[in-house]
Amino acid sequence: MSHDHLIIFDTTLRDGEQSPGASMTREEKVRIARQLERMRVDIIEAGFPAASNGDFESVQAVARAIKNSTVCGLARALERDVQRAGEALADASSARIHTFIATSPIHMEKKLRMSPEQVIEQAVKAVKWARRYTDDVEFSPEDAGRSDLDFLCRILEAVIAAGARTLNIPDTVGYSVPGQFGELIYRLRERIPNSEQVVFSVHCHNDLGLAVANSLSAVQNGARQVECTVNGLGERAGNAALEEIVMAVRTRADVFGCTTRIDATQIVPVSRLVASITGFAVQPNKAIVGINAFAHESGIHQDGVLKHRETYEIMRAEDVGWSANKMVLGKHSGRNAFRVRLTELGIDLATEEAVNAAFARFKYLADKKHEIFDEDLHALVGEEASAGAVQVYKLVSLKVCSETGEVPYAQLVMSVHGVEASANATGGGPVDATFKALEKIVNSQAELQLYSVNNITTGTDAQGEVTVRLSKAGRIVNGLGANTDIVVASAEAYLDALNGLYNKLERAHPQI
Ligand code: KIV
Ligand code: ZN
Repeated sequence: MSHDHLIIFDTTLRDGEQSPGASMTREEKVRIARQLERMRVDIIEAGFPAASNGDFESVQAVARAIKNSTVCGLARALERDVQRAGEALADASSARIHTFIATSPIHMEKKLRMSPEQVIEQAVKAVKWARRYTDDVEFSPEDAGRSDLDFLCRILEAVIAAGARTLNIPDTVGYSVPGQFGELIYRLRERIPNSEQVVFSVHCHNDLGLAVANSLSAVQNGARQVECTVNGLGERAGNAALEEIVMAVRTRADVFGCTTRIDATQIVPVSRLVASITGFAVQPNKAIVGINAFAHESGIHQDGVLKHRETYEIMRAEDVGWSANKMVLGKHSGRNAFRVRLTELGIDLATEEAVNAAFARFKYLADKKHEIFDEDLHALVGEEASAGAVQVYKLVSLKVCSETGEVPYAQLVMSVHGVEASANATGGGPVDATFKALEKIVNSQAELQLYSVNNITTGTDAQGEVTVRLSKAGRIVNGLGANTDIVVASAEAYLDALNGLYNKLERAHPQI
């Protein structure tokens, strides 16, 4: 049976970034984009250029860095939005503009305050504006899942005539259920004249936990592009998880009759990179990328797998990249091997100075930890990769005391704008004491929203990766720290978040 190509459109950098607290810097977006390209994603939606200068610059940077995937920018159906998207994508090897306008009665009446005729007119104009920049134009009727079928047919027919090549059907609020959503795609394809000239795409949200099921039902009814995100990141409950879509289609090719061009062995490394940059840890029982996804606990299952793997396994862990977690470097590795491996991982440190600093940290880590994995390298270069940001706060030294029956305390020295300051504090535990000592010096008035520790690889000598999320004046930032000592990693993560806040607030708006 010949299989159709299913286009994988990744929107981790756009819809994924809309998860509260998941905002990414330009450098972080480029790092993730390079990994998505390496995984052979067809299309990378890099952001929403009209939203802010930062978004514009991120899309531009991704467009310049990526050669083997199409880079897409989102635009409302407004001339300025489309123009900003076109400009941000000017240097892309292959560019797509994705324009959208809402089509459900509630959105048209209450949000847009436009009549259905005005919405069609605006959609047609937006597609024509976009075609000035690229032939590759995608149109989305936002909230299609709650839109009227006749109206959807009219607007989609009009945008095809205006030059749209991909029609994306979003279930914006995650309201649809699989049978109904699949039927919607079937009916649209059946009723819209010239529907065979375009690709039908779907974009499902997970409010009822049905994003993947709805997307797959659409594929069974002729959709040939799925919009999805790594780890299912995204607005509210998230989007359809890329890894689940790709592996469902691959494992059940008999049902879906499609293939993707994804290199599945990159799935776990990309998942880890996204989790580490956004601070959104993957739940252990998450399909494909959760740490337990291939772990067999029950004796009956273990016995079966040992006798014949397929008794309880429908996919192989190594096929999705679990074995890609290989030891790459050790304490005797040289600077050149280190640099080559970074390049292979898509990590591009801006300056020689940054490579030297990362290499020094690598040597220090290799002394404490025998095996250095790819994930360690990603964590290790995190600081250097954000070299563009001002590092106002730096950890100089930390001493903590934690003893049964005693109150934990921390003695901390840090530098603020290059000037050393020290403080002591007690706390409920060594991490609490460390944060209190830090705040005695900084007095940031930021609110701690999240503190989480994950081991980057396995074993008691593994690096602990700490995420600290702080909020202040409506801005939320994540800070990351990685160290074999989790208290030091915690202090580094807290300082990283403070530096993030400084760059977002004080530097941009000195009055806050
Ligand atoms: O969920 C949604 O409707 C969107 C559109 C912009 C496609 O993200
Ligand atoms: Zn969305």
